[in-house]
Amino acid sequence: MSRGSMALVRQRPPKGGNASEIERKIKRGNALRQGSSWRGSRGLVALLLVVVCVSGAATWLYLSSLDSDITEVLASQRELVSPEPRVFTVQCSEDYENHKRYPGCTPQKCGRAVADGVVTREEAQVLRRLAERGLALAGSEGGASILDLHSGALSMGKQFVNIYRYFGDQIGDVFTPEDFQLYRDVRGRIQAIIAKTFGLDPTLMYLTKPTFFSRINSTAAKTQHDEYWHPHIDKVTYGSFDYTSLLYLSDYDSDFTGGRFVFMDQNGNRTVEPRAGRVSFFSSGSENLHRVEKVTWGTRYAITVSFTCDPAHAIADPTLP
Ligand SMILES: *[C@@H]1O[C@H](CO)[C@@H](O)[C@H](O)[C@H]1NC(C)=O
Ligand SMILES: *[C@@H]1O[C@H](CO)[C@@H](O)[C@H](O)[C@H]1NC(C)=O
Repeated sequence: MSRGSMALVRQRPPKGGNASEIERKIKRGNALRQGSSWRGSRGLVALLLVVVCVSGAATWLYLSSLDSDITEVLASQRELVSPEPRVFTVQCSEDYENHKRYPGCTPQKCGRAVADGVVTREEAQVLRRLAERGLALAGSEGGASILDLHSGALSMGKQFVNIYRYFGDQIGDVFTPEDFQLYRDVRGRIQAIIAKTFGLDPTLMYLTKPTFFSRINSTAAKTQHDEYWHPHIDKVTYGSFDYTSLLYLSDYDSDFTGGRFVFMDQNGNRTVEPRAGRVSFFSSGSENLHRVEKVTWGTRYAITVSFTCDPAHAIADPTLP
C-alpha cells in the first residue's frame, strides 16, 4: 500500500512551478530543519551543562559540609607513611609542669606523628581477629566497647566484667599464647618508635593503663563511659599519661565511615584517617586536644597504647592465665 502511493506521488507531475524551484524549496526546508535541530540539540547541551553544574555544586556542598571542620588531613587512609614516620611538632603545653619531671622521658619536644611502617597489615589483621573474638564474648549496648587484656576489663551491657574471672578456662579457647606474644611485640615496637621520634630513652618509659582494644559502630552509646567522641586531653583525664598511641586495626572508608581521629587546634582541625596497621602517636598534654568522630557506618577497631614516665604507674604486659 505505501509502496504503491509512493510510486504514485513520484509519478505525479509537480503542482505549479518548475522542478528547480521545488528543489530549492526542498533545500531551504532541509537547511531550516537542520538549523532547528542544531538549535534543539544546543538547548539540550545547555540543559545538560546546567544539570551537571547543579549536581556538581550539590555534591561539592555535601562533601564540604562533611569536611567543613577539617582543615588538613595529616595522613589519609590511601597513603602509606613508611618507612619513616610523618612528624608534626607542636609546642608543649604547661600540663607537664604540674607533675614530677623524669629526665629522658618527660616531653621536652611535643607533637604528633603517623607511622605505617611499624606494624604490618597482616599483624593488624591478627590483632583485629583477637579483638573480634574477645569482644564477641560480650560488648556494650552501643557506642564503644572495650577489651583490656591487662586488667581483664571487658564491656558487658552497661558495665564491665573481668574477662579472666568471668570466662575462666574458656579464655584458652579464645586467645592463644601467640596472640599475646604478638601483642607484647607490637607494643615494644610502638614504644621504640615513640622514643626515637621524641628523643627519649625507651627504658625510661612505661606502659600504663588504660591500654585497651576498642570496637565502635554506629549504634548510639547507652552510657556515658561508652561515649567516645567528646574532645579531651589525655593528660588531664589520666594524670599519668605522657605519650598516647593508637594502633588502627581497620580501614577508614572501607570498613567504616566517620570515626576519623581529629586534633583540635586553635587554627583548625587536623585529622588522621585510620588505616589497618597505622600507628598514630602524640604527647598527651593539652597541645594535643583531640576527639574521634562518630562512626556512621561499619565497625572500627583500634588499640590505645598509653605510656607514662612515672614508674609508679607502670603496668606489666598481659599474659594468659
Ligand atoms: C553495634 O554493636 C552493638 C554491641 O556493642 C550491637 O548491639 C549493635 O547491634 C551493633 N550495631 C550495628 C549497627 O551493627
Ligand atoms: C573544629 O571542629 C569543631 C567541631 O568539630 C568546630 O566547631 C570548629 O569550628 C572547628 N575549628 C576550626 C578552626 O575550624
